[in-house]
Amino acid sequence: MEYKINSSGTGHRYTKEEIEVVTRVMNEADPLTQGKYRNAFEEKFKEALGLDYCFAVNNATAALELAAQLCLFKPGDELIAPTHTFTSSVYPFIKKGANIRWADIDLKTRVLTAESIEKRITTKTRAILIVHLYGYLADMEEIVQLAKKHNLLIIEDVAQALGTDLNGKQAGSFGDFGIYSFHSHKNMTTLGEGGMLSVKNQTYANILPQLRHNGHTSFHYDRTDYWLPAMGNLEMPVLEGKMLWPNNYCLGEVECALGSKLLDRMHQMNAEKRSNALWFIDQLSAFPELEFHRVDSSRHNYHLLAAQVKNGMRNGLIKLLADFYKIKCDVRYYPLNRYPLYQAVGLGQADCPNTDLFFDNQICFPFEHWRSREDLNYIVNSTKDALNKLRNAG
Ligand SMILES: Cc1ncc(COP(=O)(O)O)c(C=O)c1O
Repeated sequence: MEYKINSSGTGHRYTKEEIEVVTRVMNEADPLTQGKYRNAFEEKFKEALGLDYCFAVNNATAALELAAQLCLFKPGDELIAPTHTFTSSVYPFIKKGANIRWADIDLKTRVLTAESIEKRITTKTRAILIVHLYGYLADMEEIVQLAKKHNLLIIEDVAQALGTDLNGKQAGSFGDFGIYSFHSHKNMTTLGEGGMLSVKNQTYANILPQLRHNGHTSFHYDRTDYWLPAMGNLEMPVLEGKMLWPNNYCLGEVECALGSKLLDRMHQMNAEKRSNALWFIDQLSAFPELEFHRVDSSRHNYHLLAAQVKNGMRNGLIKLLADFYKIKCDVRYYPLNRYPLYQAVGLGQADCPNTDLFFDNQICFPFEHWRSREDLNYIVNSTKDALNKLRNAG
């Protein structure tokens, strides 16, 4: 079908200056990976977000794989995680041996809360995965208190919430691990792929360069000839006496240079999206059939604009918007326990009624940063029209 407003795979457009950075670094970077642009990006990211140690990686999934490796799960260890998230928030932890305990979201905020997490804590719990979904920073102060009480690691999946803060403290700076994505859809993208892992603990920071890049190290003695016994050394990364196989999760220099440049307008892009979201939500305030999460602060960056549709109208609304108004809305995130992939490893059951209720009635409007006010106006007016039609039909 030809849509007037199609869903898009690109979160934002690039400015002329950003494109110039890309072409300049394409020409001058040597090497094209693991050089000065990566170092500068990590440094700027760390400063901008008030983090301790940052490591640029090729995507957020790689950052999650690294975090999962560093958690050192022992047989029986449990990780508390939401089912309402993107798949790679969770499966890296299963691969590294964690038993998953699904926790439910809050219906209003659509993220985990200290209360929903506490219900899942057992003597085996080792870590909590918090996903700041849709771009909303969860109740981290309470969650950090809970984690301290039970001595749990916190992994913050900030893939969608870059640049959000709670009383001035940035998303990703509360937990032991902060995971950021610069994927094509995101509020800030380094040419389609890219990610960052932040850690608080220096022991993790010491091992991460090796873990990220094939176990490469230097020789620990003075050498007379740079090529003897070999150009470089390889050592097994070891944490708390455990050997960890290395990976290659590096991010290229062009992406890193672009990432540094984009940081200059990250907060501005977030503010623009938030202002559009608040406008959109307010335009539809006379329609209680749509329940948005309205947050007028930098705690939400409105990566996505989601609503719960009441009165069983969700499917009718999406169908009408698609067929008649030619607007393609999305539905996210299929609870992970409903996928065959998770069922295949015994994770098909989850007692998460809020997640089920929300997902089964959810709509995500097309809401990229580059959308014009004309597009948004058309979506708002069509939604009003469609809801009136459904009211009359009902
Ligand atoms: C919540 C969440 N976590 C993790 C990821 C994985 O990010 P990446 O594509 O950078 O690996 C995504 C999306 O892409 C996401 O939305």
